[in-house]
Amino acid sequence: MSQTAEPVVKTSPPALREKYHCLIGGKLVGAESGETFPSFNPATGEKLADVPACDARDIDRAAQAAQNAFPAWRKLSPAERGTYCRRFAERLRARKDVYAALDTLDLGSPFNMMRVDVASAANQIDYYAGLGSELKGETIPSGAQTFSFTLREPFGVVAKITPFNHPIMFAARVAAPLVAGNTLIVKPAEQTPISALEMVHDLKEIFPPGVVNVVSGDGPSAGAPLVQHALVRRIAFTGSVEVGRAIMRSAADGLKTVSLELGGKNPMIVFPDVDLDRAVASAFNGMNYTWSQGQSCGSTSRVFLHSDIHDAFVVKLLEKVKTVRIGMPIDEKTEMGCLVSEQQFNKVMSYIEIGKKEGAKVMIGGGRPSNPDLQRGYFVEPTIFDGVEQRMRLAQEEIFGPVQSIITWNDLDQVTEMANSVMYGLTASIWCRDFSKAYRMAQEIQAGFVWINDSSKHFLGVPFGGYKQSGLGREECLADLLSYTQVKSINVNVS
Ligand code: NAI
Ligand code: MG
Repeated sequence: MSQTAEPVVKTSPPALREKYHCLIGGKLVGAESGETFPSFNPATGEKLADVPACDARDIDRAAQAAQNAFPAWRKLSPAERGTYCRRFAERLRARKDVYAALDTLDLGSPFNMMRVDVASAANQIDYYAGLGSELKGETIPSGAQTFSFTLREPFGVVAKITPFNHPIMFAARVAAPLVAGNTLIVKPAEQTPISALEMVHDLKEIFPPGVVNVVSGDGPSAGAPLVQHALVRRIAFTGSVEVGRAIMRSAADGLKTVSLELGGKNPMIVFPDVDLDRAVASAFNGMNYTWSQGQSCGSTSRVFLHSDIHDAFVVKLLEKVKTVRIGMPIDEKTEMGCLVSEQQFNKVMSYIEIGKKEGAKVMIGGGRPSNPDLQRGYFVEPTIFDGVEQRMRLAQEEIFGPVQSIITWNDLDQVTEMANSVMYGLTASIWCRDFSKAYRMAQEIQAGFVWINDSSKHFLGVPFGGYKQSGLGREECLADLLSYTQVKSINVNVS
């Protein structure tokens, strides 16, 4: 495959490479053990490629390479580091269709939306590339005899561990640690490693050797040693709460700085005064049925409907969901693809069974689509439960699939309490025309990212991250860039 902008034929698979490599110290390498593991297309069950199965030895090589590259990289100005990052963003845009098609094949999300993921990563890189001058310190008045000032310095080697649900979008977001002067090791999820291993060819051409390294492998063999490696001082993780906890525990031994972007069971609270069509569209978009089949941490998976509008809202939402075109993800006309793996499929199907047993009512969906062409893949229909109650697991646990629960409310205090009574606190969507009411609720909601009369959208510069067990730290903003630095205070005796 060529490295230049070359539109692929969008409805046919892109050329997969004969062989996939990691990138360590500027070299394309396999695992030292020679081991590989397969990655599958979840829409067809076909094997796409074998990729390196890295273990602690490869992690050690990558950490040494990143450490060796660090002194020269940190000496560049932030603007120079930003220029490297911008070139990478340009390359992502030029090869957008290649990256998008690889993610579509490896993950099962619709091609058109994977193009949006690539563009989003590129835009985020440009954003941080332009923020280098904000890596500034302070001067502090320490009296006439002393000049006190601070510097923001990089940590050294940063590890970035990413989940399966938006593979290239997460793996390619390299700019915050790099512009801050760190070097980087990226480990993509084992279900969807291919786009990150395609990315190594662009990284290799653009960055000095060792500045960005990419290793593939699973959690226990590659992720855990990466977190534990003595040279790794800062860890950025996106994924499940369970693994987030394990990483934090393990990082405690080396007292490493950790940021965690974890799951959500996000409420959308609809007041009776809303424009129903807009609110319904927002409930639909917020669930990310047509982006990730609901496999996104910010999805509005709990919809709290005021009893006055409950029935009309549900009718409209079902009408909307009925129109979704489920199909082969690589087909440009497809709006909704399949889940990433058999494991994820079984998890979602088991929650659907749990919901039924608990007494909630399936209003639409609840199984595989009947289309005979889709029977080999992990397809699940968009599924809406009504009559969900707070005590049900359906109302408490993150399903990470196309399953949305409807809960009816009448009392403002009660709905706020219900919205808050889960262990998560990532996003919330409040639909209400009366701004003072909406704002009052926004203040009471335990979530790190709240929309009023909207859902789903992110905005560069606006901090994204979780309350409670949805995570630690904020991304997509200046604070994220600064979180890749540590402060040094210097005090000069000027007497
Ligand atoms: P996961 O948390 O198991 O894996 C995410 C990443 O962590 C992968 O790269 C994995 O290899 C790595 N990892 C696993 N164990 C590790 C360890 N001990 N040390 C270091 N790294 C380790 O998430 P997975 O399996 O992809 O999805 C499971 C569930 O996690 C989903 O069903 C969903 O509930 C949640 N999730 C939330 C996401 C979010 O965006 N907040 C994204 C993906 C998953
Ligand atoms: Mg795969």
